[in-house]
Amino acid sequence: MIMRFTQIESLTSIFHLRFPLLLLGLLVITGCRQDMHDQPRYEPLEASTFFKDGRASRPQVPGTVARGQLKIDEHLYSGKIAGKPVDAFPFPITKDILACGQERYNIFCAPCHARIGDGSGMIVQRGMRQPPSFHTQRLREAPAGYYFDVITNGFGTMYSYADRVTVNDRWAIVAYLRALQLSQNATIEDVPASQRQQLGAAR
Ligand code: HEC
Repeated sequence: MIMRFTQIESLTSIFHLRFPLLLLGLLVITGCRQDMHDQPRYEPLEASTFFKDGRASRPQVPGTVARGQLKIDEHLYSGKIAGKPVDAFPFPITKDILACGQERYNIFCAPCHARIGDGSGMIVQRGMRQPPSFHTQRLREAPAGYYFDVITNGFGTMYSYADRVTVNDRWAIVAYLRALQLSQNATIEDVPASQRQQLGAAR
């Protein structure tokens, strides 16, 4: 292809104009990179010369509670009343809550404790330490608040689930645990007389 003289001339002039722009662009980009590494803000607990005490983070104002951190309901947040685990739920348990508890249990607990709660979960089958069964006399008699405490603070080698399971979901799991315990320790007497016939029919 043959280019006319005027075309070649305009090409070179574009190059002359573009080159300084390109150089400027490169400088701006590398300049920015520095800022991204060390942004003009304080990291948590970083030192600062701005305040007299040398701390960038401000101490809490005495007598105040940060938003979302008011936990005066001891039963709800610790499973205890006056420091002792209680065998009661801090809110009424509905069918929906039980269903939520089943879902959360199957996600967070069943990998070790197994879906029926006997401690034979898949992780245990792969060699991890076996947790106790929820169907032993001792754990069946343990108060609901005790389970809440174990989920919140962990127990022995089991770590805490407080940062993964919300307070309400922890109670939902405990409610479902109670249902699980019933399911594995029920007798024919627990079935209303009027419905026993159906059980026989199902078999
Ligand atoms: C990674 C495995 C694992 C997961 C997941 C797990 N646990 Fe455990 N759990 C254990 C082990 C192991 C023990 C026994 C710890 C020990 O005795 O040191 C245990 C013990 C327990 C106990 C018995 C405490 C006692 O008095 O003997 C309870 C209750 C319990 N877990 C509840 C739960 C609940 C509820 C969840 C789900 C939110 C859960 N665990 C999730 C491994 C797990």
